[in-house]
Amino acid sequence: MKTIKLQDKIFEPYISKEQIARAVKKLTGEIESYAGNDEPVFVVVLKGSFIFASDFSKAYTKNAVFEFYRLKSYEGTASTGDVKILLDIPAKSLRGKKVIVLEDIVDTGNTLEKIIEELQKKQPAELKIATLFYKPEAYQKTYPVDFIGMEIPNDFIVGYGLDYDELGRNLPEIYRLKKRNMIDFILFGPPGAGKGTQARILRDKLGLTYIATGDMFRHHIKNETPLGKKAKVYIERGDLVPDEITIDMIKEIISDPEVKGIIFDGFPRTVRQAKFLDKLMAEKDLIIDALIALEVPEEILVKRLLERGKTSGRSDDNEETIKYRLKQYHDKTEPVKDYYKQQGKYYEVDGVGDIEEVNQRLLNVISGIKLREKV
Ligand code: IMP
Ligand code: MG
Repeated sequence: MKTIKLQDKIFEPYISKEQIARAVKKLTGEIESYAGNDEPVFVVVLKGSFIFASDFSKAYTKNAVFEFYRLKSYEGTASTGDVKILLDIPAKSLRGKKVIVLEDIVDTGNTLEKIIEELQKKQPAELKIATLFYKPEAYQKTYPVDFIGMEIPNDFIVGYGLDYDELGRNLPEIYRLKKRNMIDFILFGPPGAGKGTQARILRDKLGLTYIATGDMFRHHIKNETPLGKKAKVYIERGDLVPDEITIDMIKEIISDPEVKGIIFDGFPRTVRQAKFLDKLMAEKDLIIDALIALEVPEEILVKRLLERGKTSGRSDDNEETIKYRLKQYHDKTEPVKDYYKQQGKYYEVDGVGDIEEVNQRLLNVISGIKLREKV
């Protein structure tokens, strides 16, 4: 399937030229029979309706007048609710007339409500609404939409006049915003729970992107990126890297439209970081779908970490430092669980068992989590 890129987003083909043509034809027929022998005034809502109105006007076989009305409500891919009139129509052009609004798309209905309110002031004999596309799940108003070309699900579309940040209007068919097809989640747990091991397996099995903050810092430092240079100063001093630097590194990864979904490991470590992360995801129209906690009893953790200390030769892995790290985890990191519990996104997995067995448990939980759509 041929996808296209507009600004920072990827779109996939969705509604063909033929399907659009059929919807326009259907609308034209319905509106012609409604208008009968009257000469209606069509109010073309700019900019989005310019292609639809053009095809519609060529298909419309009787006399009609065309007026142009321009509003603006959208910023990016979300309705702002605040609608402004940029180009008005003189009242005398509509007074006592059969007026039909030609909309490209009706989403929440905020724009439509404003249009109706403003056009009613010009005292038309009748006011009807025609839209090429209609999103019934998104519509929040009660005013009836009289003529509908095609109902579509609550997806963001571009093409045939419709834009994403002013791009995509000239596409002859409709494309739909490509959504992540996997979840974004935090793999959580104390040191020694097996997060890294499990995350790598899940990454390979599910095609996810794996963000381990430690690896991310090392990568930036090795490649001497501007963020790497900043982080290095702290790491060399033995200090924690400030949240702002970590967040900037994460921002780069989540902005990549090719990413299907992310496993976070080692981040967020504090509630403050969790709040940062939620905000960052929201800015990109994304959301953390889950926090999955790997549960392992403390005695086993200590045993595992001591074992790891022996084989990896990490000098800091003696019983005392291990106990200290676990305490740090309980005090500072564990509250992150409650933060996501309150959002209804908390899942727990028994982390004791062999690697494949634990992985299967994780996969079961993941397949049960539905993609949450941020609307
Ligand atoms: P509403 O006020 O939420 O009904 O949004 C109506 C306006 O938002 C339309 O006239 C479009 O300009 C824009 N819009 C709504 N949905 C989409 C979409 O899926 N793609 C592009 N623009 C849209
Ligand atoms: Mg628009």
